[in-house]
Amino acid sequence: MAEAPQGSIHGEALEALLHERRSFPPTPAFVAQANAQQSIYTDAADPVEWWSQEARTLEWATPWTTPLEWDLPFAKWFVGGRLNASVNCVDRHVTAGRGSRVAIHWIGEPEDDRRTITYNDLLAMVCQAANALTELGVRSGDRVAIYMPMIPETVVAMLACARLGAAHSVIFGGFSAEALSDRIQDADIRFVITADGGYRRGAPSALKAHVDEALKLCPEVHRTLVVRRTGQDVEWQEGRDVWWHDAVESQPTTHDPEYFDAEQPLYIMYTSGTTAKPKGILHTTGGYLTHVSTTYRYVFDLKPETDVVWTAADIGWVTGHSYIVYGPLANGATEVIYEGVPDAGGRDRWWRIVEEFKVSILYTAPTTIRTLMKWGEELPAAHDLSSLRLLGSVGEPINPEAWMWYREHIGGTRCPIVDTWWQTETGGIMITPLPGITAAKPGAAMRPFPGISVDVVDNDGRSVGNGEGGFLVITEPWPGMTRGIWGDPQRFKDTYWSRFPGAYFAGDGAKRDEDGDLWLLGRVDDVMNVSGHRLSTAEVEHAIVGHPDVAEAAVVGASDETTGQAVVAFVTLKQSAELGGGDEAPLVKAIRDVVAQSIGPFAKPRQIILTPELPKTRSGKIMRRLLRDVAEHRELGDVTTLTDPAVVNLIDEMMAVHGADED
Ligand code: PRX
Repeated sequence: MAEAPQGSIHGEALEALLHERRSFPPTPAFVAQANAQQSIYTDAADPVEWWSQEARTLEWATPWTTPLEWDLPFAKWFVGGRLNASVNCVDRHVTAGRGSRVAIHWIGEPEDDRRTITYNDLLAMVCQAANALTELGVRSGDRVAIYMPMIPETVVAMLACARLGAAHSVIFGGFSAEALSDRIQDADIRFVITADGGYRRGAPSALKAHVDEALKLCPEVHRTLVVRRTGQDVEWQEGRDVWWHDAVESQPTTHDPEYFDAEQPLYIMYTSGTTAKPKGILHTTGGYLTHVSTTYRYVFDLKPETDVVWTAADIGWVTGHSYIVYGPLANGATEVIYEGVPDAGGRDRWWRIVEEFKVSILYTAPTTIRTLMKWGEELPAAHDLSSLRLLGSVGEPINPEAWMWYREHIGGTRCPIVDTWWQTETGGIMITPLPGITAAKPGAAMRPFPGISVDVVDNDGRSVGNGEGGFLVITEPWPGMTRGIWGDPQRFKDTYWSRFPGAYFAGDGAKRDEDGDLWLLGRVDDVMNVSGHRLSTAEVEHAIVGHPDVAEAAVVGASDETTGQAVVAFVTLKQSAELGGGDEAPLVKAIRDVVAQSIGPFAKPRQIILTPELPKTRSGKIMRRLLRDVAEHRELGDVTTLTDPAVVNLIDEMMAVHGADED
């Protein structure tokens, strides 16, 4: 491998675990009632036929004629079929007589801020929003940006767009105005749905203000629809800005849906690649909905009549799209959506929510599990968590220690844990234990989901044997796969389909253990994973060199106990740059701020290391691996220069280990 994977389990710790081969089979009681039984893997021996069978559990207005057309790397699933995603997530449950079931238990960050939304209510809300959007000019084939807090209107807005055949592009509320305008321009968006703000860490955040700023650069946007969430003052542009409560809440609560081609764009989700420019990952309707609803049923063992599910993720990222919105709602589930941070109103907030709403399925990221772990097991122990029956993890490799803590202190040792590997590009879960079948190993994502074909290959694309590591590839098309990068088919081919001909290159390192089970080892490219947020080193470097005093920057993802990885920037200054009166702090702060402004506060470097030069190979390439090792050397302070004797020694030592010709 050219570069060691940037995961959280490496080397000796991983070897010890592999050697131990410890695994946890599901309890007999769980096995007896599980949705997925052993036969599922053999049932899916013909993947296209199996996925077709699963797709039939959705409601189609017109059946498809061909299940798959595969012109590598472009797939079309369920060709000729017509359906409506919002009808599948809402109307059909009401039609089937389940309208009084709760769809969403919404919990705001301020205590006692609650809403209970049944499927009947959700249908009325989605119809009103669809009517309002139609009146404001949104049509099938348009794109709509959604920049919202975690409130029910966000789900309603997404489903209303889907109902009209307009693709939504939800932009995470933590992105800056600049990042927002880049995305709006890239997808040629004319319509934005936002809110005045949301609640985060006890205070109202500003969203509309960022939209106003972003739209100075997006003259094509002629309408914004604004939800009043916090009541804060906002600027208002007459003729462009419309309040949600004026435009939506007076609309009729019924709306006749139109049915769209299975390949109708459903959404675009921007994500970071290895260059500074984020990629607009396109998902379409029929295949995607099949993938997320099927995985939701089997991986989470959903029993929609009795479960209360909680995907504790942000709707602004793909986990929220697939497993807060489309997966659970397509299955008629009852779910909890919580607006805020885990410690709003006390560090036991999550456990109070689980206890009060009797949450049975909890899905979150390792970074959050590690934070909850740091706060101590007394907090969950003080609450009745006996309603929980299944736990999930997503977004980064889960370290075995966190896995074991999750199992013991949250799952009471009875809940199976599903460590699910997937990506924005894959649409839905790809590698995972199945809870009634797999004896899961702490830290391993285990096996491909039925109907999914993956491999681990070496540099030359040859499959590695058990006990060996390499690059993760996906070898057959799957229904939820991205249909491409918005506006850039060549980049789609180059990024994913050219490294190993005929296969999708995921960008992750993986290892097959002696039993053939899969361990994900982290990214092998320049993508970082910081608290489950995907960021590219190039994107952050690009932001930093935007500061007038900066000559050059190299960014690495250094491992971090809580956030998985943290952004560390090595920066050289221009000759003319003045350090603030001998004190580097003001300049370092200014560099951090420039990152917050260009991307968002979540991308700010943990550490900035000022250096007269960046270590480069003889061919002029920055030695990132060396820099990562320097960054991971914990004695380094918050601001350190590479000329500090301690660092110079460290670099010398590391050069001796790595050699100077690192790629
Ligand atoms: O490196 C893998 C990591 O997250 C990347 C995908 O990030 P994103 O598109 O933002 O989607 C995150 C939510 C699906 C992958 O390339 N990743 C995701 N899940 C896991 C994981 N790494 C290890 N184990 C996982 N379970």
